[in-house]
Amino acid sequence: MYFETASNDHGLPHDPLKALIAPRPIGWISSLDANGIPNLAPYSFFNLLSTNPAIVGFSSATQKDSQRNIELTGEFVCNFASVDLIDKINTTSKHVAANVNEFELAGLTEAKSHIIKAPRVLEARAHLECEYVKTVELPNDDNGIVWSLVLGKVLAVHIDDRFIKEGLVDTLAMEPLTRMGYMDYGVLGGMETRERP
Ligand SMILES: Cc1cc2nc3c(=O)[nH]c(=O)nc-3n(C[C@H](O)[C@H](O)[C@H](O)COP(=O)(O)O)c2cc1C
Repeated sequence: MYFETASNDHGLPHDPLKALIAPRPIGWISSLDANGIPNLAPYSFFNLLSTNPAIVGFSSATQKDSQRNIELTGEFVCNFASVDLIDKINTTSKHVAANVNEFELAGLTEAKSHIIKAPRVLEARAHLECEYVKTVELPNDDNGIVWSLVLGKVLAVHIDDRFIKEGLVDTLAMEPLTRMGYMDYGVLGGMETRERP
């Protein structure tokens, strides 16, 4: 099939685009609001964008609580999303009032961060403590939805020692949960290694 995004006339019940950029990593973003109430939500338009400095980014469709908190407080945590936490991760995507603590909503435990004030998800297998860098507004179609790319610098990294084997992080053993298209989550099925030519 072929379609152009200007008309989006793919003829399918749902836009197929997101199913093609898959699997996407999930940044499970925790932050604090102005009153110190924790917020937690998954973002799959998310990635590590550079190293030294390590910059991460996620895109928010309209200014949601995470973006607002981060712009206000200047910090956030990316918690590692793993398969065992799928239902809790999904629960934290619920559209709830800004003052609802999604840690409590999903039955998760807040763990103190080392450098920043925003809490980590104790149950997550790794965490990135991040300092807000800037927000880049993405081109929009005048359809009322403005997407923004929120960028942060990684200040500190926590890794559950059980997943460090012979000096390497065993990512496969950490069972990263990924986002596919539609309502689908992905589970990694294996790994292949090649030396760079
Ligand atoms: C797996 C998953 C990935 C998501 N990724 C995004 C995303 O990249 N951008 C976005 O705006 N919303 C995304 N959402 C929806 C948000 O999680 C949802 O709107 C949430 O309520 C936002 O919470 P907040 O207002 O506390 O930030 C995703 C939802 C799920 C379940």
